[in-house]
Parts: sequence; structure tokens; C-alpha cells
Amino acid sequence: MKLTTVILAAGQGTRMQSDRPKVLHELGGKPLLRHVVDAAQRLSPQAIYVIYHHEKRALVRDALPDLPVTWINQTETLGTAHAVQQALPMIDEDQRVLILYGDVPLISAATLQKLLATPADTIAWLTAVVDDPSGLGRIIRDNAQRAMAIVEERDLAPEQQAINEINSGIALIPAQQLKKWLPTIDNHNSQQELYLTDLFALAVNAGHAVTTVTPEQPWEVLGVNSRAQLAKLERCYQRHIATQLLNQGVTLLDPDRFDLRGELQCGCDVTLDINVILEGKVSLGNRVTIGANVYLRDVEVGDNVTIRANSFIEQAVIEADCRVGPLARIRPQTHLKRGSIVGNFAEINRSTIGEKSKIHHHCYIGDTEMGSSVNIAAGTVVCNYDGVNKHPTTIGDGASTGGNCNLVAPVVVGDHSMIAAGSTITKPVPAEKLAVARSRQITIDKWKRPEKKSECKKDY
Ligand code: UD1
Ligand code: CA
Repeated sequence: MKLTTVILAAGQGTRMQSDRPKVLHELGGKPLLRHVVDAAQRLSPQAIYVIYHHEKRALVRDALPDLPVTWINQTETLGTAHAVQQALPMIDEDQRVLILYGDVPLISAATLQKLLATPADTIAWLTAVVDDPSGLGRIIRDNAQRAMAIVEERDLAPEQQAINEINSGIALIPAQQLKKWLPTIDNHNSQQELYLTDLFALAVNAGHAVTTVTPEQPWEVLGVNSRAQLAKLERCYQRHIATQLLNQGVTLLDPDRFDLRGELQCGCDVTLDINVILEGKVSLGNRVTIGANVYLRDVEVGDNVTIRANSFIEQAVIEADCRVGPLARIRPQTHLKRGSIVGNFAEINRSTIGEKSKIHHHCYIGDTEMGSSVNIAAGTVVCNYDGVNKHPTTIGDGASTGGNCNLVAPVVVGDHSMIAAGSTITKPVPAEKLAVARSRQITIDKWKRPEKKSECKKDY
């Protein structure tokens, strides 16, 4: 049977206290709605419909223009059954309809596969036994433990209050059944809403096969209604990823102080100290060691690289055997070639650093093409910006700078040349030569230390 997904997301999300639509809030660096769509896509459905309230729909659509979904406007939010009904005219009778929620982001493809594994003509509902069922619909079972109905918390009879099996809301229902039962649902309940959950008892009473399925992990069915719930789910998600990494053989010195907000590929024997934050696409080669408080975004790191504490690195390639930090800043479009070293308080921007070149400390290198085995001393600044335009600098193999040099771009520094400390270089430096560009030091023989004038002496 073919599969269609309907994602309900027309709620107002008032408890988030936010101007942003709830489903755009991020978990693990990714908007909630994208998590749900990604999970749905892993099942290759024929279509994904997102039920949205018109006021904020444009905001969501503009923020996620690449989302492969069809947006459906629910002008009045009359309840979950009404929401699903909005998509029904588009869905053929031969489909199974998977109902997901824009604010239940951590549902896994594995759990959804469990729903799909039920016979195609059954109604399959995802339920979970939880410690705290408050606020959620409960599963009512008969004496033979057959699920008979879902009752919302406000509509529970006193003897049903103790039930701790909850309705996740997620269900897989043949389109035929939806088309049959949804129009018959009324709003005779405490909220005067059209409850999708009423379909459960209607189908059971008509003798239709209804079955319940449980999630792989209990937190997969948790929803986000408040920032506190979002923060809680973020920790569930990070802990889950940390556990996967540990199982893959990655050393995390503290799995509770690790954050991945994107995708990570890891080689063998990688070690991450505490508070490492990885964003975007990060790949770490074999035997990479990352110190505490390091931030990496879209970085490719080769084998045997050490990145020491408090380094901040974005959109860079760091080849094998490099050493970076502590306290290094590597900005976008930077490429550190094999065995190079970037030390503390060094900022590298849009530059290539050649093999085995060393930038040990305190400098700025921008728009620079640097050869191999270059030695950059402390205080070297590439002056790449004239106030209007950026200009390139080339530094040849084996060149070296003394402390506190300015290289005023555009400029070329020849192979194996040397620049004397304190020089401001504005002209090409020929290969194999020493360039000195600083005022000469003189000694004033007759100099006398100034004396304090007596009338200036005051009692303070
Ligand atoms: C619903 C279920 C409840 C379940 C809980 C799980 C019903 C009647 N109850 O309750 O059994 O335990 O979810 O979280 O289904 N929405 C729309 N349009 C609407 C109404 C809701 O798109 O007209 C969306 C909301 O954005 C939300 C979701 O549906 O994402 C759930 O709606 P909500 O009103 O929050 O239902 P709950 O009371 O949480
Ligand atoms: Ca809810």
C-alpha cells in the first residue's frame, strides 16, 4: 500500500512565548519541522502535507523553502480531526496515511517502520507507558487488555485517572478509514474540538482492526510546547547521539557535555574533551584530539590532528598532522596543509597555509597564499584591507618573518627570504634576501633624564 504523510502544525504555540512559529525553533541545530519531515522522508512517502495556520505559514515556508512538502491552510483550528480532514481531498483511497506532528521532532524512522510493519488494512496507533501522563490522551483497554478507545485527559472518568498509557498522537490510518470516520466525528467534548482520537473507538466498535505500537525510545513521542520542554528534548537528543558515538568507539570525556548540531563523521580513536560544539558538517579523521570548549562549524579535519582548548574554527580544511590552538581563530575558506601549526591568538582568514608552516602566536593572516615551511613570528599582521578593498599576499616556501611585522597587501614575499623584526613591508621581498623596513635606532649620548619641576610637587 502507498504511503502519504500528514504533519499537523497549525497550533499557535503560545507557550513558547515567541514571535517565531514554534516549528522553526531548533533542536540539535535543526528546525523542529525539518526533523519531522526528514523522519517522514526516510519512509519514501508519495507526498508530505503540512497542515498550517495561514498567519505564520509564509514565515515557515520562507525559512524552509527547500522542504519537499505541500502546505495546506487550516484557517480555523477546530481540532486534530479537522486538521487531518483538510488534507483528505488530496489523498487517494489506496493510501495509508501517517499522521505526524510538527512539534514532535524526535520520532525515529525505526519506530515509524514498526507502525508500517502492521497489516496494511489496520489502524495502528503509537502509544507509550510514561511516568507522568498529565495533559495527554489515555488508552482505555478492556479486561482482555484490548485497546478500546482514547480519552482526552479532561474527559477521563475518575476510575480512568490512573491510566499511564498515553496517546502519542502519531498514527497510521488507511485513507479509506479516515474518509469513512472523520466526517462522523463531533465536537461533543470539554474543548468542543473535533478529536482525531475519537476515530479509535469508532473503528473498534465497528469491528475494524486497531492495534497499538510502542516507540523504540520513550522520548521519541515527547512534544515541544514550551522552552523548558525544548531544552529537555535537546538533552535527550544530545545524550542519544553521544551514546551512539561512544558505541562507535569515540572517546567523549563527558557525554553530557557534548553538542552536535549537524552531521559528524568520525575516524578511529577520536577523543573529544568537554564542551565541544560541532555544527554543520564536520568530519574528523583517525586519532584526532579536540580540547575543551572548541567550536567547529563545517570543518574537515585530517588524521592525527590536535585542536587544543578554546579554538573557534569555521569552514576550514585542516589536513593531517596539524596542530591548532589553544585559542586559535580560523575563519572561513582557510586551508591548513599537512603538518602546519597555528598557535594561540592567531587569526587566519581566507588563506592557505603550506605544509609544515608555523604560525605559533599572536598574528593575523588574511587573503594569503603561504608556501611550505614558512615561519611567522609573533605580531605579524597581513594588512589585507586598504579600507575599501581586500588584497592578496603571497609568501614563498621557507620564508620567515621577525616579530611585529606588517605585510601591506598586495605584496609578494620570496622563497627563503627573511623579514627583519618590526618591518613594514610594502614592496616585493626577493627570494633568499633579508628585507629590513624600519627606522634606524640611534643613541643620544648627551641625553639627560628630565627632572621634576619643584612647583609641580603637590600634596595629594
Ligand atoms: C493531542 C491528542 C492527545 C495526545 C496529544 C499528544 C487529540 C484530540 N488529542 O492532544 O490524545 O495525547 O496530542 O501530544 O488529538 N493541531 C492542528 N490543528 C488543529 C488542532 C491541532 O494542526 O486544529 C496540531 C497542533 O499544532 C499540535 C497537534 O495538532 O501540533 C496536537 O494538537 P493539540 O491541540 O496540542 O492536542 P493535544 O491537546 O496536545
Ligand atoms: Ca500538544
